[in-house]
Amino acid sequence: MRFTLDYDQYAALARQTAAEGCVLLKNEKEALPIRKGETVSVFGRIAFTYYKSGTGSGGMVNAPYVTNILDSLKECKDISVNEELEAVYQDWIRENPFDMGEGWAQEPWSQKEMPVSEALAQKAAASSDLAVVVLGRTAGEDMDNSAEPGSYLLTAEEEALIKTVCSAFKRTAVVLNVGNIIDMKWVDRYQPQAVLYVWQGGQEGGHAAADILTGAVNPCGKLSDTIAADISDYPSTDHFGDAVCNVYAEDIYVGYRYFETFAKEKVSYPFGFGLSYTDFSVEVLNTRTDGMKAKLTVLVKNIGKTAGKEVVQVYVCPPQGKLGKPVRNLNSFYKTQLLTPGEGEEINLVVSLEKSASYDDSGVTGEKSCWVLEAGAYGIYVGTDVRSAKKVCEVQLDELCVISRLEEALAPVQPYERLVPVETGKKGTDGEPVLEIGKQAAPLRSVDLAERIRTERPEAEACIGDQGWKLADVCDKKVTLEQFLSQLSDEDLACLVRGEGMCSPKATPGIASAFGGVTDSLKAFGIPVAGCSDGPSGIRMDCGTIAFSLPNGTLLACTFNPELVEQLYEMEGMELRKNQIDTLLGPGMNIHRNPLNGRNFEYFSEDPCVAGTMAAAQLKGMGKYGVTGTIKHFAGNNQEFKRHDANGVVSERALREIYLKGFEIAVKEGHAYSIMSTYGPINGIWTAGSYDLLTTILRKDWGYQGVVMTDWWAKMNEEGEEGSQSNTIPMVRAQNDVYMVVSDSASNSANDNTMEGLADGRLTRGQLVRNAKNICHFLMRSPVMNRFCDREFDVCEEINNPAKDAMAGNLIASQKVEKEAKLDLTKLSTQKGVRAGYLLDVSKAGSYQMIFKMHSGENPFAQLPVSIFVNGVLQQTTTFNGTDNKIIERAVTISFTESGENQLTLFFGESGVRMDEILLVQE
Ligand code: BGC
Repeated sequence: MRFTLDYDQYAALARQTAAEGCVLLKNEKEALPIRKGETVSVFGRIAFTYYKSGTGSGGMVNAPYVTNILDSLKECKDISVNEELEAVYQDWIRENPFDMGEGWAQEPWSQKEMPVSEALAQKAAASSDLAVVVLGRTAGEDMDNSAEPGSYLLTAEEEALIKTVCSAFKRTAVVLNVGNIIDMKWVDRYQPQAVLYVWQGGQEGGHAAADILTGAVNPCGKLSDTIAADISDYPSTDHFGDAVCNVYAEDIYVGYRYFETFAKEKVSYPFGFGLSYTDFSVEVLNTRTDGMKAKLTVLVKNIGKTAGKEVVQVYVCPPQGKLGKPVRNLNSFYKTQLLTPGEGEEINLVVSLEKSASYDDSGVTGEKSCWVLEAGAYGIYVGTDVRSAKKVCEVQLDELCVISRLEEALAPVQPYERLVPVETGKKGTDGEPVLEIGKQAAPLRSVDLAERIRTERPEAEACIGDQGWKLADVCDKKVTLEQFLSQLSDEDLACLVRGEGMCSPKATPGIASAFGGVTDSLKAFGIPVAGCSDGPSGIRMDCGTIAFSLPNGTLLACTFNPELVEQLYEMEGMELRKNQIDTLLGPGMNIHRNPLNGRNFEYFSEDPCVAGTMAAAQLKGMGKYGVTGTIKHFAGNNQEFKRHDANGVVSERALREIYLKGFEIAVKEGHAYSIMSTYGPINGIWTAGSYDLLTTILRKDWGYQGVVMTDWWAKMNEEGEEGSQSNTIPMVRAQNDVYMVVSDSASNSANDNTMEGLADGRLTRGQLVRNAKNICHFLMRSPVMNRFCDREFDVCEEINNPAKDAMAGNLIASQKVEKEAKLDLTKLSTQKGVRAGYLLDVSKAGSYQMIFKMHSGENPFAQLPVSIFVNGVLQQTTTFNGTDNKIIERAVTISFTESGENQLTLFFGESGVRMDEILLVQE
């Protein structure tokens, strides 16, 4: 494939997306945008250090640069920034540097804030009317948020800052650079005139936030979650965070489905809400019902003074029937084009009730295990957020309609009570029926799972040995995939289900895993090695290779603009292809069940229609360049605390309607062909070995034909037993095709029990062949297949690549290299993420020994990778261990292809390496 990757275009698209995701919650007295010629006083240390994403695997992109809000405002010609105030902050930040923490999941979720005295605020206010206060939060895997100051709540320092600034300034705008929603009670307390969520917008996020603040882009983002007054208002909060068992007692009543049905008064900002600098009228010109569909013509008109975009949202209010249902569910949405003042856009929307069907997991409708539409009136609501949407028509169904008939799958085994609505017969002030919270025993599993697995067990022909067929012969239709796989020994098949990583030398340096032909024997059958990398917000390459950092999941969802997301992910597709990576480990698409989940920043929304639509958009975008995303975490990764073990107890209905629904959309509409399961169990079975999840629902019900991989070092179990990392028998059986990750597949370095299972009959060869087919399907449609067979070479022309300069890092010194040279490292910081280098004048091209003299106070298990680049190209990553402060020597070989000027750059993947000198010796 031949393509041009223009980084300016990439940045422009990312900037536009990041701006379209910003959500303006409040804007009194036209506090924003910043007026032409105005001076703005910027408060808050996060204005200087923008959070491009959260932490953990989803945040480890080595970005070429990250724009911050302060500098981005300073780049705007028509406004000025209060420089005196800026200088005060700069001095303070020098004394109080950003605390990155040391090690995995150790970065604090918030930073110390600079105390601002009334005098300082008054002084700043004397030279400017408008204050912008920037506050931030990070979060990430392995640790949840807490309903405490510094996490979900503001710290006392932050509150004091807002209070002081609000009382000194005529107009104060608070800007939130956060991964997902936070507590908002302070808005009432201090009454800032404007409040803006800018989320975490990747490397262009600072620019995007400035675009919104200055009005270069008119805000048009909408909340993808409901913001309730207090964390205790979310019905999942009571059960969130348990180390052992997480009961989904709220059932399908997640987010606005709960609040609109039972607790409207607890909502501070409704789902779908977001302001603009202009006004729109939304008029439904025409409605037509047609069987189970309603067709609407809607006119959106810009009736204000500036150009902008609006999002039309269509909700369905189904009849309560026997199942009981939320009074609103999002059926579809549409974002308008940019409308100039006075301009209108006529939109035709088709509301398909099938999308709003319910799943009967109890049989109360007489149709157990079916998607149904109960008889009655389906109200269709149109508006610009869930609360203000107005009823525009009704679709009447005279009898129960069965949409699809499935088999019971994944139902809970542990008894518990779930929430159901109870009709009171009363009507509220809005004329709608008042529903009260009732409880009902969740229907438990009634099928024999072990029997299901047994009867559905595939058999396969015995191995016929090497016939000389290669995987390419299957692509060329010379042999069938079954014939091809019949050549592989049981041992080969067992090796094929093991992915290798992290940072396997068999794939692109620094990525999470290599899978497919990872052994010599598999390679000899012409099976290529595919590569996958984190994800979701850009490509993570731990060796230090620079990649584009994208906006986070919450932000993307808040754009309500799948077309734009698709365009952005076309660029990501090119970048993956350029780096020879077949799948990005993302999008993350779990439901925002509770605001305290530490990984919400990676995920989209509390609503499965939004999550599924956004995931599908990303997949379509990347798909244009022949690569894909691995949708994750399938399913129910809704809590980080004890994520490897805490059991999610959840009804089949809630799974099908809420937690699996987005994935179903991504599979059916986005044509996903790579999925990652989760670390933990659902209803007692670890998802990586859950037959009902990965076979009954995913493959049989949805028709999925791709590959499923575990999360990294996940556990599996036999029902009733504990999870274990080496128990691959249930994994293979369930069609979780690849175990991620082991260090060496050929030697079974992780000691898994696949071969044991084959020997004692717990597994059949047929089951392994089925995994092999899924893996080969993935490989055959991925770019690696043609590359491996020398059939297609990619030519990527890169233009405007900022990484070229960034790869060089800081220049420490220039030096001549004759036969030998000593590089002085005493001035070099070896902190995590530092990239620094030397400009070398090499008298002779060729190989050189690079002899490191290093020591580290860390223990011998600490992994401290250092990567060496010559002229921006990775030569080696060498991983040191801690040395308990003893000095050691290590030599690696590098080469200079040409004499003369060469850039030698070092990249430190972790903090803790101490080095004084490197010796370069010509070989
Ligand atoms: C995360 C995954 C990630 C994987 C590989 C795990 O810790 O849960 O989302 O893709 O690591 O980095």
